[in-house]
Amino acid sequence: MKRKILFVDDEVNVLDGLRRMLHPLRREWDMEFASNAGEALAAVEKQFRDAVVSDMRMPGMDGARLLAEVKKRSPETVRIILSGQADKKAFLRSALSAHRFLSKPCGYDALRLAIDRGCSLRDLVSSPAIRKLVMSMETVPSLPQWYGELIAALESPDASLEDVAEIVGKDIGMAAKILQLSNSAYFGYREPVADIAHATQILGLDAIQALALSLHVFSEFKKRRIDGVSVDDIWEHSLTVGEFARRIARAEKAGPEAVNQAFVAGLLHDVGILAFAVNLPEEYEKVLARAKAEKTGHWRAEAEAFGASHAEMGAYLMGLWGLPDDVVEAIAYHHRPSLCPERSLSPLAFVHVADVLEHEARGCAGRWSAPEPDADYLRELGVADRLPAWLDACLKSDPA
Ligand SMILES: [Fe+2]
Ligand SMILES: [Fe+2]
Repeated sequence: MKRKILFVDDEVNVLDGLRRMLHPLRREWDMEFASNAGEALAAVEKQFRDAVVSDMRMPGMDGARLLAEVKKRSPETVRIILSGQADKKAFLRSALSAHRFLSKPCGYDALRLAIDRGCSLRDLVSSPAIRKLVMSMETVPSLPQWYGELIAALESPDASLEDVAEIVGKDIGMAAKILQLSNSAYFGYREPVADIAHATQILGLDAIQALALSLHVFSEFKKRRIDGVSVDDIWEHSLTVGEFARRIARAEKAGPEAVNQAFVAGLLHDVGILAFAVNLPEEYEKVLARAKAEKTGHWRAEAEAFGASHAEMGAYLMGLWGLPDDVVEAIAYHHRPSLCPERSLSPLAFVHVADVLEHEARGCAGRWSAPEPDADYLRELGVADRLPAWLDACLKSDPA
């Protein structure tokens, strides 16, 4: 079926340029062009659009507000901002309402890829209700402790990027948002960004201050505990899995990029649990209780109840936000890596093993069900006998 894409820009020349450039895609995309927000909203109300790509600066309602309205009326639509490079303030204002950010002029390949990736990620999740929930998520809340530290660091007269990067690197929600923005085409980096220190540098201290202090892009977790899982526990687990994945990657002499991706993918691998806990606390409590009673993995119980486990849910959200593909893949398959078509010592392998070893090292008493090692996958990679050495590397007090 053809995808329905709506482009919005108040400049006729820009719309004409897009029409010409995208003409070869007319068999794959059903394209419509609107010259203002009112026209765009009328089109969205009339018929479902897979994606809306909007200019930022428009008279009347601007792109950020338009996309916020699109989200209300059609939560399953992929929302993309296409803005002029010079306008950093406007770009930051769209940090909550847009899934992705592109900058003008945007080439055929970049535009096609952003739209196709955003739309095809939906296939990961079959339930329309869960899809809607992921598409509507603007932020992943932060642990109150790190949120408080970030605000204090940013308000301090001697705020430094190093301090900010250190705090962001400990928090799932902040890391996800900072990586979403720094990976956007707005900044024009060709390589995916998975190093949090680099990501904070790309944005700059002034932008992070604006995001946190005036645009309120970060938020705190309100409910610290739902029956069956404690938010603090997820944080501790995620941070340790990130650190373990980084140490295993180093032990395997992976390059710096893979090492960074392993850490970030480890930090974010269970972000889907937070998405369930924030959006569906009561239903999720029941699913966790059922998993416990039936002595089965909570990811299986989630898939049965919601049509997607936290792994697919988290990968869908992070993919939609434009995080690096290797990170999204590691999140998607961290419980069952053999489902991934690729076989290589990648961030996926490091995160899968780190998740298993973290549970083993800490013991699982009182926690959600322990992940199971995917023995076939590890054998196929030829690393099944490396587990003791990797556990040693993880538990060393001072990693190389
Ligand atoms: Fe998990
Ligand atoms: Fe985990």
